[in-house]
Amino acid sequence: MKALLRKLHAPVYERRQRSLLRLIGGCLPSGESLLDVGCGSGTLSGALAKERGLEAQGLETHPRKQCEIPVDPYDGETIPYADNSFDNVLLADVLHHEEDPLRLLEEACRVAARRVIVKDHKTGPILAWPRISLIDWAANAGYGVRCLYRYPDLKGWHDLFKESGLSIHKEHKSLDIYPCFLNALFGRRLQYLAVLNPATL
Ligand SMILES: C[S@@+](CC[C@H](N)C(=O)[O-])C[C@H]1O[C@@H](n2cnc3c(N)ncnc32)[C@H](O)[C@@H]1O
Repeated sequence: MKALLRKLHAPVYERRQRSLLRLIGGCLPSGESLLDVGCGSGTLSGALAKERGLEAQGLETHPRKQCEIPVDPYDGETIPYADNSFDNVLLADVLHHEEDPLRLLEEACRVAARRVIVKDHKTGPILAWPRISLIDWAANAGYGVRCLYRYPDLKGWHDLFKESGLSIHKEHKSLDIYPCFLNALFGRRLQYLAVLNPATL
């Protein structure tokens, strides 16, 4: 069952990755460092590193045997690096798996000298919760990643950013990141990307 889900998910992940490479890559100056928290297989930040000439490091609560970037284990509470130790911190579809997203965002803000990039889901549109829950389950069940099925709306995201000391530099409130027929059901306004600056910048 897990292998089948991974096979079905592969082309969807591929299309998501191409879109995110363009959207996120455009915000990252070459030569900078990138900490990918919840990097999974490291495919996204590995490709970002290659395309943008970045130095990428992963951090994972459940490190996988195969990862495209160097990865350190993470206890899920304290990011094991000093303040401002990376130019950029990426949280791609990770915060909705975290029991305490504010704590994780505060940690990301502490170690990021320039930017925190958040890609996640967003409720609001009609039947948003069951639609996001379904794609969240389908994307994660094949890898044994636990889903909490909790997703903020736009105001919820803005409140979280404010509380964690981050200000919005740029945001995309709708993303076409899936193959076209899936975008209508699971993409667009259910998908969210924000490029954030630590308040000290
Ligand atoms: C949907 S996958 C995303 C993987 C990768 N970021 C990407 O975009 O391809 C979510 C990842 O977050 C990790 N994760 C779950 N809870 C986490 C937490 N509290 N802190 C850090 N990573 C976490 C999971 O182990 C999983 O690899």
